[in-house]
Amino acid sequence: MEKLWTGRFQKPLNEIADAFNASITFDSRMCLQDITGSIAHASMLAKQGIISESEKESIVETLGAIAADLQSGALEIDTSCEDIHMFIEGELTARIGDVGKKLHTARSRNDQVALDLRLYLREECAEIVELIGAVITAVVGVAEKNVDTIVPGYTHLQRAQPISFAHHLLAYCAMFERDKGRIQDALQRMDSSPIGSCALAGTTYATDREYEAQLLGFSTPCRNSIDGVSDRDFCLELMSAFSITMMHLSRFCEEIILWSSWEFRFVELDDSFTTGSSIMPQKKNADMAELIRGKTGRVYGNLFGLFTTLKGLPLAYNKDMQEDKEGIFDSIDTLKMSLQVFAPMVASMHVKKENMLAAAKGGFINATDLADYLTKKGMPFRTAYKLTGQIVAYCIENGLDLESVDLARYQEFSPLFEADLYEEISLQACVNKRISQGGTGQESVQSQIAYYKKM
Ligand code: ARG
Repeated sequence: MEKLWTGRFQKPLNEIADAFNASITFDSRMCLQDITGSIAHASMLAKQGIISESEKESIVETLGAIAADLQSGALEIDTSCEDIHMFIEGELTARIGDVGKKLHTARSRNDQVALDLRLYLREECAEIVELIGAVITAVVGVAEKNVDTIVPGYTHLQRAQPISFAHHLLAYCAMFERDKGRIQDALQRMDSSPIGSCALAGTTYATDREYEAQLLGFSTPCRNSIDGVSDRDFCLELMSAFSITMMHLSRFCEEIILWSSWEFRFVELDDSFTTGSSIMPQKKNADMAELIRGKTGRVYGNLFGLFTTLKGLPLAYNKDMQEDKEGIFDSIDTLKMSLQVFAPMVASMHVKKENMLAAAKGGFINATDLADYLTKKGMPFRTAYKLTGQIVAYCIENGLDLESVDLARYQEFSPLFEADLYEEISLQACVNKRISQGGTGQESVQSQIAYYKKM
């Protein structure tokens, strides 16, 4: 396709340079947003008397027809165009001639691309927020069925204290709730329209940027035209939010991978979300979880790629900025797919309650409760802590656990011990006694479930 700027040039663009320069292979995914932006622009131009009402009608109608043809597949995107903006404008002009050439009055591709990207991201983010909501729903569903499931809680990956498995799962709901909030915060800051910034300095035409912003669903136009065309903070913010969400999914996946190992055997993923080995017949691999964990790396990479691209750029637009799109598109695709796989994978996961309980019975995870027992009977906590340590050492030496030491032996350690100690250190009691707000006790777990079910 002939370049729009041939007036100034004697030679065509070198073929390899042309291919290198083009962005149409990836920015074509913003074709409908580009048309939406152009329809608003034509409307604003007509309202201001910059183009006539009938010219506007012809432009708007034809852009609508182009959108319909793109959606039906009747019109294919011509990848010999440099970018999607030129393709749409070229197609418009091919259909209605000179009138089409008036559309680019009082705008530039610099503000146009900044607009298209915002429109596109706004739509994708709405979908992502929904998908995170679906993950929360899936996780809460599993939590509801596991309020009474006792599992070791870990610190340093060492068994620490018994907890409700639901409580463990609900920690992830808190993370995903923040993830939604981070995206929504970023969208609010992105809620200003760059269109009308033109190349960088604004325009000599009497445009109405407020009106155009309003038509496009933005609260306000960007305040500074140079910032309007050179700002990509919204991409960085969103990619940071996507990275954090991936990090949460990745931590959850890491746990699922551990839990489904033969060493833990806490959960078994459904066959439909696992794969076998081509050589080892016994294998059932958590490939989906591993892939989500793995893909987290590329989402971080996309973020750092754009940070690095932007760090040395002088104001205002530079072609380097064309590099913003592939990374953020890839992050969006990766995150959406990960969320879509994760929700049903978790919902269909089989929880092996007996194995969790068996693990909770080992490792002296009720030792804190034994120390608390003595403390409540008047022994200073530090003393009780030390004495409990000695009892644990005694148990290890003699192959016992805290429940199987008899009362007479306990009383040799301290006369404060009485028969009620066994009830106090039972795992169920250890969990249920943790009544502090946000703890693993029943009431707190139930109120978290109620909260996340309402979201
Ligand atoms: N394809 C370009 C991009 O993605 C559009 C803006 C081009 N502007 C320019 N002055 N060359 O950034």
